[in-house]
Amino acid sequence: MPFARDRRKGWAPYRVAGIGVLLGFLTGCAAQSPSILRPVSPKGRAEADLFGFILAITVFVFIVVQALLLYAVVRFRARDPQVIPPQIHGNRALEISWTTVTALGLAVIFAMTWRTMAATSTPPADALPVKVIGHQWWWEFQYPTLGITTANELVIPVGQPLRVTVTSADVIHSFWVPQLGGKMDAIPGRENVLWLQADAEGTYYGQCAELCGASHANMRLRVHAVSPEAFDRWVESQRAPAASPTEPLAQQGYQVFMSKACVGCHTINGTPAQGKVGPNLTHVGSRTTIAAGLLENTPENLARWLDNPPAIKPGSLMPRLGLTPQEIQALVAYLSSLK
Ligand code: CUA
Repeated sequence: MPFARDRRKGWAPYRVAGIGVLLGFLTGCAAQSPSILRPVSPKGRAEADLFGFILAITVFVFIVVQALLLYAVVRFRARDPQVIPPQIHGNRALEISWTTVTALGLAVIFAMTWRTMAATSTPPADALPVKVIGHQWWWEFQYPTLGITTANELVIPVGQPLRVTVTSADVIHSFWVPQLGGKMDAIPGRENVLWLQADAEGTYYGQCAELCGASHANMRLRVHAVSPEAFDRWVESQRAPAASPTEPLAQQGYQVFMSKACVGCHTINGTPAQGKVGPNLTHVGSRTTIAAGLLENTPENLARWLDNPPAIKPGSLMPRLGLTPQEIQALVAYLSSLK
């Protein structure tokens, strides 16, 4: 009876500690987390309101049911084990009423859900088109009307609705930025539409929400919501071709990039590198992170990444290229110069 012994221990110290850690973690995370309960978009707010409404109904039902249960337990408890209470069966009025009330409650929830979906599923007509393409394991972002392609960090103007078309280049992913509302599957060969909008400047964290292979958890993204003026400046700089390296080390890095496998997978606009497999690196130096949001974009991290990508992102389709430390330093200088 090994389990019986465990059960008697009940509140063993390790359990108390475990629950304490969990509670601490949850409260600590609540302040930081990109929670759906702190929405920053019209769609996110509509969804959070719906959640609050349904939660209120269910909490009300929970309290009523528990109160009746407790009342029944106390009021009708067995006082004399010898006495069998009167046996009753069926109560038509009660059965009809609890069936009707439950059905009405569900009908109200259905109607509210329908209304929220109708109000949030179609982006406004003036929305800026953006295409999101999931890859194992990074995100590609295209702005078709602006002629921009970037990766992992979506820059958007605050207050401007976006018509986001979500698709995938390989397996099913799911695009999710909790505070901006909604989760949208990225399915190969299919285009799903999502209304994205941020009503306050800031950086919003997102994450792939569909198990898509070894580095599913490492498929992160950020949405940078900036002022319309800052967005216009960003668009301007992103549309420019890549900067030509001026420093000798960066020039050396350019040569390494163009002579190694890098060109086969990456595009750098205005250079012979036109690969389509990996992220577009034309302005990689302007991004705050590398490796799908796993690392801050610093020279040290870039060097670590170039040395051994699968060690940082397990399963990474970018292999270990066997670059020498000199080649890595040169590449870091070149890539960092691509602002
Ligand atoms: Cu992509 Cu999970």
